Amino acid sequence: MYYSDVRDDYVRFWDLDQSMSMRIGFWDERVNSVPEALARTDAFLAEEVGIRDTDYVLDVGCGVGGSAIRLAREYGCRVLGINVSPQQIGEARRNAKRHNVAHLVKFAVQDFHAIDLQDEQFDVVWAVESLSHSADQYLALREWTRLLKPGGRIIGADYFRSRDRFSASTEALRQTVLGGLCFHEFEYAQRFDCMLETLDLRQIQFFDVTHNVLPSSRRLNQMSWFGVALGGLLKRLGLRSESQNRLVRANRTQYEALSSGIHQYRIFAAQKPEYVSEFPNRTEGRAQSPSVNRQPVRDEHDTISI
Ligand SMILES: C[S@@+](CC[C@H](N)C(=O)[O-])C[C@H]1O[C@@H](n2cnc3c(N)ncnc32)[C@H](O)[C@@H]1O
Repeated sequence: MYYSDVRDDYVRFWDLDQSMSMRIGFWDERVNSVPEALARTDAFLAEEVGIRDTDYVLDVGCGVGGSAIRLAREYGCRVLGINVSPQQIGEARRNAKRHNVAHLVKFAVQDFHAIDLQDEQFDVVWAVESLSHSADQYLALREWTRLLKPGGRIIGADYFRSRDRFSASTEALRQTVLGGLCFHEFEYAQRFDCMLETLDLRQIQFFDVTHNVLPSSRRLNQMSWFGVALGGLLKRLGLRSESQNRLVRANRTQYEALSSGIHQYRIFAAQKPEYVSEFPNRTEGRAQSPSVNRQPVRDEHDTISI
C-alpha cells in the first residue's frame, strides 16, 4: 500500500522505471552519474560475495527486480526475488521480460520472515534495504540462514543506528526518516553484529560505507525542499497524499541523520558454515578498495542482548 501510494515519487526521485532501484545510490571511484550510483550497489555487493554463474540467489525484498535482473545479466546466475508487494512483483516480472532474463529470474509474493521454500536451496541470500522493514530482524535472518546451503553466503546493504538510544529530539528526527520511508527500525549496529554471530554465521564482515552514499543522500535532501514547502497546499488540492508528503520530509531529514552519524549505511556479509567449527568467526574480508572503509565495528565494552 505504502509503495503503491508513493510510486510516482520513486519515479521522480529514483528514476524507478529506468533504474529499477529503490535504494540509495552508492558512489565510489567507478561511478560518474546518478544512474550508475543507483546500479553500483549490485556490482559492489556481487564482487564482495563473489557471485558466480552457477549460483542460485534469493533476493529478499526484491523491489521491482533491479538487483535480480542485473545479477542475471552480468553473471548469468539464477535468481528468485521475493516481495510482499504483488504490485512490485508484477512490475519485476515485466522488467525481467524487458531485459530478456525471464528464463533466469523468477519472482514470487512472499513474506521474508516465513518463506514457503525448503531448507538449504540457495548459494546466496541478497538483501538490499529490506531488513529495516522488519519488526524482527533476528527472525528474518534466521529464516534466510535456513534457506542457505552449507557454505552459502548472505550479503546485504542497509541502514543502521549508531547508538541504542537517543535524546528525544534526535529520536523525533529519526522517526521522521523511518516513518516517511516506511522502515520499521534501523537496527543498532552492534546488536546486529551479535545476531550474525548468534546464528553461528562465519566469515562475518560488517562495515560502514556511509560516505559512499552521502552524495545521493545530499541530492535527495536538495530535491525535497520544494515538496516539503508546498506539500500542505498540494495535499489540499488533492495533488499529493500524506504518504508522499511524509516521504519528502524523510528525504530531506535523512541527510542530517546520516551526515551527523546518527544513522549509518553498512554492508554486511556472512557465511553459513560448511562443517561445524571449521572457520574462524571473523575475517578482514577481501582486498581493500581505496574508497571503502571495511573496519569492523566492535565496542568490546558493550554488552548486547538480542
Ligand atoms: C527499500 S525497498 C528495496 C528494494 C530492492 N531491494 C532494491 O534495492 O531496489 C524494500 C523492499 O522490501 C520489500 N519488503 C518489505 N517488507 C517485506 C517482507 N516482510 N517480505 C518481503 N519483502 C518485503 C518492500 O516491498 C520493498 O520492495
